[in-house]
Amino acid sequence: MQRKAVSRDENAPIDPREHVQERDVEKTLRPKGLDEFIGQPKVREQLDLVLTGAKRRGVTPDHILLSGPPGLGKTTLSMIIAQELGTSLRMTSGPALERAGDLAAMLSNIVEGDVLFIDEIHRIARPAEEMLYMAMEDFRIDVIVGKGPGATSIPLDIPPFTLVGATTRAGMLTGPLRDRFGFTAQMEFYEVDDLTKVITRASKILGVSIDHDAAVEIGSRSRGTPRIANRLLRRVRDWAEVNGNGHVDVPAAQAALEVFDVDELGLDRLDRAVLSSLIKGHGGGPVGVNTLAIAVGEEPATVEAVCEPYLVRAGLMARTGRGRVATAAAWHHLGLTPPPEAPGQLNLM
Ligand SMILES: Nc1ncnc2c1ncn2[C@@H]1O[C@H](COP(=O)(O)OP(=O)(O)OP(=O)(O)O)[C@@H](O)[C@H]1O
Ligand SMILES: [Mg+2]
Repeated sequence: MQRKAVSRDENAPIDPREHVQERDVEKTLRPKGLDEFIGQPKVREQLDLVLTGAKRRGVTPDHILLSGPPGLGKTTLSMIIAQELGTSLRMTSGPALERAGDLAAMLSNIVEGDVLFIDEIHRIARPAEEMLYMAMEDFRIDVIVGKGPGATSIPLDIPPFTLVGATTRAGMLTGPLRDRFGFTAQMEFYEVDDLTKVITRASKILGVSIDHDAAVEIGSRSRGTPRIANRLLRRVRDWAEVNGNGHVDVPAAQAALEVFDVDELGLDRLDRAVLSSLIKGHGGGPVGVNTLAIAVGEEPATVEAVCEPYLVRAGLMARTGRGRVATAAAWHHLGLTPPPEAPGQLNLM
Protein backbone atom coordinates (compact mmCIF):
# COMPACT_ATOMS: atom_id res chain seq x y z
CA MET A 1 0.00 0.00 0.00
CA GLN A 2 1.37 3.39 -0.98
CA ARG A 3 1.04 5.88 1.86
CA LYS A 4 1.26 9.60 1.31
CA ALA A 5 4.12 11.23 3.14
CA VAL A 6 2.85 13.86 5.55
CA SER A 7 4.97 16.28 7.49
CA ARG A 8 3.76 16.86 11.02
CA ASP A 9 4.10 19.82 13.28
CA GLU A 10 5.86 18.59 16.42
CA ASN A 11 3.39 20.51 18.56
CA ALA A 12 0.27 19.40 16.75
CA PRO A 13 -2.07 17.25 18.83
CA ILE A 14 -1.39 13.55 18.40
CA ASP A 15 -4.02 11.76 16.40
CA PRO A 16 -5.10 8.82 18.58
CA ARG A 17 -5.81 6.76 15.45
CA GLU A 18 -2.11 6.75 14.67
CA HIS A 19 -1.44 4.85 17.84
CA VAL A 20 -4.17 2.38 17.09
CA GLN A 21 -2.55 1.80 13.70
CA GLU A 22 0.88 1.30 15.26
CA ARG A 23 -0.63 -1.24 17.66
CA ASP A 24 -2.25 -3.03 14.76
CA VAL A 25 1.12 -3.17 13.05
CA GLU A 26 2.62 -4.75 16.20
CA LYS A 27 -0.10 -7.37 16.06
CA THR A 28 0.58 -8.28 12.43
CA LEU A 29 4.29 -8.61 13.22
CA ARG A 30 3.86 -11.08 16.07
CA PRO A 31 5.14 -14.55 15.16
CA LYS A 32 2.27 -17.07 15.45
CA GLY A 33 4.12 -20.33 16.16
CA LEU A 34 7.28 -21.44 17.96
CA ASP A 35 8.99 -22.15 14.61
CA GLU A 36 8.40 -18.54 13.50
CA PHE A 37 9.81 -17.18 16.76
CA ILE A 38 13.31 -15.87 16.04
CA GLY A 39 16.25 -16.16 18.45
CA GLN A 40 16.14 -17.18 22.14
CA PRO A 41 17.34 -20.70 21.23
CA LYS A 42 17.55 -21.77 24.86
CA VAL A 43 14.05 -20.63 25.77
CA ARG A 44 12.62 -22.14 22.59
CA GLU A 45 14.22 -25.51 23.27
CA GLN A 46 13.10 -25.56 26.90
CA LEU A 47 9.58 -24.48 26.04
CA ASP A 48 9.34 -27.01 23.26
CA LEU A 49 10.27 -29.77 25.73
CA VAL A 50 7.78 -28.61 28.35
CA LEU A 51 4.94 -28.34 25.82
CA THR A 52 5.69 -31.52 23.88
CA GLY A 53 6.17 -33.53 27.08
CA ALA A 54 2.83 -32.40 28.45
CA LYS A 55 1.05 -33.01 25.14
CA ARG A 56 2.43 -36.58 24.96
CA ARG A 57 1.23 -37.33 28.48
CA GLY A 58 -2.09 -35.69 27.72
CA VAL A 59 -1.88 -33.29 30.65
CA THR A 60 -1.82 -29.51 30.95
CA PRO A 61 1.77 -28.23 31.14
CA ASP A 62 3.24 -26.83 34.35
CA HIS A 63 2.87 -23.14 35.06
CA ILE A 64 5.40 -21.05 33.15
CA LEU A 65 7.10 -17.81 34.16
CA LEU A 66 8.55 -15.60 31.40
CA SER A 67 11.11 -13.19 32.76
CA GLY A 68 13.08 -10.45 31.01
CA PRO A 69 13.28 -6.79 29.96
CA PRO A 70 10.42 -5.14 28.00
CA GLY A 71 9.91 -5.92 24.30
CA LEU A 72 11.76 -9.26 24.14
CA GLY A 73 8.66 -11.28 23.27
CA LYS A 74 6.98 -12.38 26.51
CA THR A 75 3.43 -11.54 25.39
CA THR A 76 4.18 -13.06 21.99
CA LEU A 77 5.38 -16.29 23.62
CA SER A 78 2.27 -16.55 25.78
CA MET A 79 0.15 -16.44 22.61
CA ILE A 80 2.40 -19.02 20.98
CA ILE A 81 2.05 -21.33 24.00
CA ALA A 82 -1.75 -21.30 23.72
CA GLN A 83 -1.49 -21.73 19.96
CA GLU A 84 0.89 -24.70 20.27
CA LEU A 85 -1.40 -26.32 22.84
CA GLY A 86 -4.45 -25.63 20.70
CA THR A 87 -6.27 -24.00 23.62
CA SER A 88 -7.58 -20.53 24.26
CA LEU A 89 -5.69 -17.75 25.92
CA ARG A 90 -7.17 -15.55 28.61
CA MET A 91 -5.19 -12.41 29.25
CA THR A 92 -5.03 -10.13 32.24
CA SER A 93 -2.35 -8.24 34.14
CA GLY A 94 -1.11 -7.85 37.70
CA PRO A 95 -2.35 -4.27 38.13
CA ALA A 96 -5.85 -5.33 36.95
CA LEU A 97 -6.08 -7.92 39.75
CA GLU A 98 -6.60 -5.52 42.61
CA ARG A 99 -9.01 -7.63 44.63
CA ALA A 100 -9.29 -11.38 45.07
CA GLY A 101 -12.69 -11.12 43.38
CA ASP A 102 -11.06 -9.88 40.17
CA LEU A 103 -9.04 -13.06 39.97
CA ALA A 104 -11.96 -15.27 41.04
CA ALA A 105 -13.96 -13.86 38.12
CA MET A 106 -11.15 -14.75 35.70
CA LEU A 107 -10.67 -18.23 37.15
CA SER A 108 -14.35 -19.14 37.21
CA ASN A 109 -14.46 -18.71 33.40
CA ILE A 110 -11.59 -21.05 32.73
CA VAL A 111 -12.12 -24.09 30.54
CA GLU A 112 -9.92 -27.18 30.97
CA GLY A 113 -6.50 -26.72 29.36
CA ASP A 114 -6.79 -22.94 28.96
CA VAL A 115 -3.75 -20.73 29.22
CA LEU A 116 -4.19 -17.87 31.68
CA PHE A 117 -1.70 -15.11 30.94
CA ILE A 118 -0.95 -12.61 33.71
CA ASP A 119 1.29 -9.81 32.46
CA GLU A 120 3.36 -7.83 34.98
CA ILE A 121 2.58 -10.52 37.50
CA HIS A 122 4.89 -8.91 40.09
CA ARG A 123 2.28 -6.16 40.45
CA ILE A 124 -0.57 -8.43 41.54
CA ALA A 125 -2.25 -7.33 44.79
CA ARG A 126 -1.65 -9.45 47.88
CA PRO A 127 -5.15 -10.94 48.38
CA ALA A 128 -5.33 -11.95 44.71
CA GLU A 129 -1.83 -13.42 44.96
CA GLU A 130 -2.86 -15.62 47.89
CA MET A 131 -5.86 -16.88 45.94
CA LEU A 132 -3.57 -17.55 43.00
CA TYR A 133 -1.29 -19.80 45.13
CA MET A 134 -4.21 -22.10 45.82
CA ALA A 135 -5.46 -22.05 42.24
CA MET A 136 -2.00 -22.89 40.89
CA GLU A 137 -1.34 -25.69 43.33
CA ASP A 138 -4.70 -27.31 44.00
CA PHE A 139 -6.87 -25.98 41.14
CA ARG A 140 -9.31 -24.82 43.75
CA ILE A 141 -10.16 -21.48 45.33
CA ASP A 142 -12.25 -20.30 48.24
CA VAL A 143 -14.70 -17.60 47.26
CA ILE A 144 -15.73 -15.43 50.20
CA VAL A 145 -19.38 -14.45 50.09
CA GLY A 146 -20.67 -11.68 52.32
CA LYS A 147 -18.85 -9.51 54.83
CA GLY A 148 -17.96 -9.54 58.51
CA PRO A 149 -18.95 -12.37 60.89
CA GLY A 150 -21.66 -13.62 58.48
CA ALA A 151 -19.19 -14.18 55.63
CA THR A 152 -18.92 -17.71 54.33
CA SER A 153 -16.35 -19.27 52.10
CA ILE A 154 -17.51 -21.40 49.22
CA PRO A 155 -14.93 -23.74 47.68
CA LEU A 156 -14.79 -23.66 43.90
CA ASP A 157 -12.98 -26.20 41.74
CA ILE A 158 -11.05 -24.82 38.78
CA PRO A 159 -10.37 -27.05 35.78
CA PRO A 160 -6.64 -27.73 35.21
CA PHE A 161 -5.08 -24.75 33.41
CA THR A 162 -1.61 -23.41 32.68
CA LEU A 163 -0.67 -20.10 34.17
CA VAL A 164 1.79 -18.11 32.11
CA GLY A 165 3.17 -15.18 34.08
CA ALA A 166 5.32 -12.44 32.57
CA THR A 167 7.55 -10.11 34.51
CA THR A 168 10.21 -7.51 33.86
CA ARG A 169 11.15 -7.66 37.55
CA ALA A 170 11.54 -11.30 38.59
CA GLY A 171 13.30 -10.18 41.76
CA MET A 172 10.06 -8.57 42.95
CA LEU A 173 8.11 -11.82 42.89
CA THR A 174 7.46 -13.29 46.32
CA GLY A 175 9.13 -16.63 47.08
CA PRO A 176 5.87 -18.62 47.33
CA LEU A 177 4.68 -17.34 43.95
CA ARG A 178 8.01 -18.04 42.24
CA ASP A 179 8.09 -21.57 43.71
CA ARG A 180 4.75 -22.45 42.14
CA PHE A 181 6.04 -22.10 38.59
CA GLY A 182 7.34 -25.36 37.15
CA PHE A 183 9.55 -23.59 34.67
CA THR A 184 11.06 -20.11 34.32
CA ALA A 185 12.12 -18.93 30.88
CA GLN A 186 14.81 -16.30 31.24
CA MET A 187 14.64 -14.15 28.11
CA GLU A 188 17.94 -12.63 27.02
CA PHE A 189 18.69 -9.64 24.80
CA TYR A 190 18.86 -10.68 21.12
CA GLU A 191 22.06 -10.94 19.09
CA VAL A 192 22.43 -8.63 16.06
CA ASP A 193 22.01 -11.63 13.73
CA ASP A 194 18.61 -12.43 15.20
CA LEU A 195 17.51 -8.79 15.16
CA THR A 196 18.52 -8.65 11.51
CA LYS A 197 16.20 -11.61 10.90
CA VAL A 198 13.40 -9.90 12.85
CA ILE A 199 13.82 -6.80 10.64
CA THR A 200 14.00 -8.78 7.41
CA ARG A 201 10.84 -10.68 8.35
CA ALA A 202 8.99 -7.48 9.36
CA SER A 203 10.10 -5.77 6.12
CA LYS A 204 8.52 -8.56 4.10
CA ILE A 205 5.26 -8.33 6.05
CA LEU A 206 5.16 -4.51 5.79
CA GLY A 207 6.27 -4.50 2.14
CA VAL A 208 9.41 -2.48 2.80
CA SER A 209 12.28 -2.93 0.34
CA ILE A 210 15.50 -3.07 2.38
CA ASP A 211 19.17 -3.97 1.79
CA HIS A 212 20.61 -6.70 3.99
CA ASP A 213 23.31 -4.34 5.29
CA ALA A 214 20.67 -1.79 6.23
CA ALA A 215 18.82 -4.47 8.23
CA VAL A 216 22.11 -5.24 10.01
CA GLU A 217 22.62 -1.53 10.70
CA ILE A 218 19.16 -1.16 12.24
CA GLY A 219 19.53 -4.47 14.08
CA SER A 220 22.80 -3.43 15.69
CA ARG A 221 21.13 -0.30 17.04
CA SER A 222 18.01 -1.93 18.45
CA ARG A 223 19.18 -2.39 22.05
CA GLY A 224 18.93 -6.16 21.66
CA THR A 225 15.12 -5.79 21.54
CA PRO A 226 12.76 -6.93 18.73
CA ARG A 227 10.09 -4.38 19.62
CA ILE A 228 12.67 -1.61 19.15
CA ALA A 229 13.93 -3.23 15.93
CA ASN A 230 10.40 -3.16 14.49
CA ARG A 231 9.85 0.40 15.64
CA LEU A 232 13.14 1.66 14.17
CA LEU A 233 12.33 -0.10 10.90
CA ARG A 234 9.07 1.86 10.70
CA ARG A 235 10.88 5.15 11.41
CA VAL A 236 13.54 4.40 8.81
CA ARG A 237 10.83 3.54 6.32
CA ASP A 238 9.19 6.92 7.01
CA TRP A 239 12.51 8.62 6.34
CA ALA A 240 13.09 6.68 3.13
CA GLU A 241 9.59 7.46 1.85
CA VAL A 242 9.88 11.17 2.58
CA ASN A 243 13.48 11.64 1.45
CA GLY A 244 13.80 9.06 -1.29
CA ASN A 245 11.91 6.41 -3.18
CA GLY A 246 11.14 4.32 -0.10
CA HIS A 247 14.01 1.86 -0.53
CA VAL A 248 16.02 1.42 2.67
CA ASP A 249 19.80 1.30 2.27
CA VAL A 250 22.56 1.91 4.83
CA PRO A 251 22.81 5.70 4.33
CA ALA A 252 19.02 6.01 4.72
CA ALA A 253 19.10 3.93 7.91
CA GLN A 254 21.94 5.98 9.35
CA ALA A 255 20.35 9.32 8.48
CA ALA A 256 16.97 8.28 9.89
CA LEU A 257 18.42 6.91 13.12
CA GLU A 258 20.27 10.16 13.62
CA VAL A 259 17.01 12.11 13.25
CA PHE A 260 15.42 9.88 15.90
CA ASP A 261 18.34 10.30 18.35
CA VAL A 262 19.44 6.68 18.28
CA ASP A 263 23.22 6.52 18.58
CA GLU A 264 25.69 3.94 17.20
CA LEU A 265 25.25 1.70 20.24
CA GLY A 266 21.48 1.98 20.01
CA LEU A 267 21.22 4.08 23.14
CA ASP A 268 18.22 6.37 23.24
CA ARG A 269 17.81 9.67 24.99
CA LEU A 270 16.98 8.15 28.40
CA ASP A 271 19.93 5.74 28.32
CA ARG A 272 22.26 8.62 27.55
CA ALA A 273 20.68 10.81 30.24
CA VAL A 274 21.33 8.06 32.81
CA LEU A 275 24.96 7.66 31.71
CA SER A 276 25.46 11.39 31.59
CA SER A 277 24.05 11.90 35.09
CA LEU A 278 26.17 9.03 36.37
CA ILE A 279 29.36 10.42 34.86
CA LYS A 280 28.94 14.20 34.73
CA GLY A 281 26.78 14.50 37.83
CA HIS A 282 28.41 11.88 40.05
CA GLY A 283 31.94 11.41 38.80
CA GLY A 284 31.11 7.93 37.47
CA GLY A 285 29.52 6.65 40.69
CA PRO A 286 28.90 4.64 42.73
CA VAL A 287 25.47 6.18 43.00
CA GLY A 288 22.09 4.74 44.03
CA VAL A 289 19.39 4.07 41.47
CA ASN A 290 16.95 6.45 43.21
CA THR A 291 19.36 9.35 42.85
CA LEU A 292 19.89 8.53 39.17
CA ALA A 293 16.16 8.26 38.57
CA ILE A 294 15.47 11.67 40.15
CA ALA A 295 18.24 13.21 38.04
CA VAL A 296 16.68 11.97 34.79
CA GLY A 297 13.08 12.55 35.89
CA GLU A 298 11.99 8.90 35.74
CA GLU A 299 10.63 6.34 38.17
CA PRO A 300 13.38 4.21 39.76
CA ALA A 301 11.48 1.12 38.55
CA THR A 302 11.73 2.35 34.94
CA VAL A 303 15.43 3.04 35.21
CA GLU A 304 15.94 -0.39 36.77
CA ALA A 305 13.77 -2.42 34.39
CA VAL A 306 14.20 -0.50 31.13
CA CYS A 307 17.61 1.25 31.08
CA GLU A 308 19.90 -0.69 33.33
CA PRO A 309 19.63 -4.20 31.92
CA TYR A 310 20.83 -3.02 28.53
CA LEU A 311 23.51 -0.65 29.85
CA VAL A 312 24.89 -3.51 31.94
CA ARG A 313 24.65 -5.97 29.02
CA ALA A 314 26.47 -3.52 26.73
CA GLY A 315 29.25 -3.19 29.31
CA LEU A 316 28.59 0.50 29.98
CA MET A 317 27.42 0.22 33.56
CA ALA A 318 28.21 -2.07 36.47
CA ARG A 319 26.03 -2.76 39.48
CA THR A 320 27.97 -2.88 42.75
CA GLY A 321 26.96 -3.22 46.39
CA ARG A 322 27.44 0.52 46.80
CA GLY A 323 25.51 1.58 43.71
CA ARG A 324 25.84 1.99 39.95
CA VAL A 325 29.24 2.63 38.40
CA ALA A 326 30.09 3.82 34.88
CA THR A 327 32.66 1.65 33.07
CA ALA A 328 35.59 3.04 31.11
CA ALA A 329 33.61 2.37 27.92
CA ALA A 330 30.80 4.63 29.11
CA TRP A 331 33.24 7.51 29.62
CA HIS A 332 34.64 6.95 26.13
CA HIS A 333 31.13 6.79 24.70
CA LEU A 334 30.43 10.29 26.03
CA GLY A 335 33.76 11.45 24.58
CA LEU A 336 35.44 11.74 27.99
CA THR A 337 38.62 10.27 29.46
CA PRO A 338 37.84 7.73 32.19
CA PRO A 339 39.56 8.01 35.56
CA PRO A 340 41.96 5.12 36.29
CA GLU A 341 39.54 3.52 38.77
CA ALA A 342 36.70 3.21 36.20
CA PRO A 343 36.03 -0.53 35.78
CA GLY A 344 35.50 -2.73 32.80
CA GLN A 345 35.86 -2.83 29.08
CA LEU A 346 33.33 -2.42 26.30
CA ASN A 347 31.49 -5.69 25.81
CA LEU A 348 29.69 -5.15 22.53
CA MET A 349 27.16 -7.72 21.45
N1 LIG B 1 11.37 -13.70 18.66
C1 LIG B 1 10.72 -12.78 17.95
N2 LIG B 1 10.68 -12.85 16.62
C2 LIG B 1 10.06 -11.90 15.90
N3 LIG B 1 9.42 -10.83 16.44
C3 LIG B 1 9.41 -10.73 17.77
C4 LIG B 1 10.05 -11.69 18.59
N4 LIG B 1 9.87 -11.33 19.87
C5 LIG B 1 9.17 -10.20 19.86
N5 LIG B 1 8.89 -9.83 18.61
C6 LIG B 1 8.19 -8.61 18.19
O1 LIG B 1 8.39 -7.64 19.21
C7 LIG B 1 7.16 -7.08 19.64
C8 LIG B 1 7.17 -7.02 21.16
O2 LIG B 1 7.04 -8.31 21.70
P1 LIG B 1 6.16 -8.57 23.02
O3 LIG B 1 5.01 -7.64 23.06
O4 LIG B 1 5.87 -10.02 23.04
O5 LIG B 1 7.19 -8.18 24.14
P2 LIG B 1 7.04 -8.28 25.73
O6 LIG B 1 8.22 -9.04 26.22
O7 LIG B 1 5.71 -8.80 26.07
O8 LIG B 1 7.18 -6.78 26.19
P3 LIG B 1 6.60 -6.06 27.55
O9 LIG B 1 7.44 -6.52 28.70
O10 LIG B 1 6.81 -4.60 27.26
O11 LIG B 1 5.16 -6.45 27.64
C9 LIG B 1 6.05 -7.95 19.08
O12 LIG B 1 5.07 -7.17 18.46
C10 LIG B 1 6.71 -8.84 18.03
O13 LIG B 1 6.37 -8.38 16.75
MG1 LIG C 1 4.07 -7.79 26.92
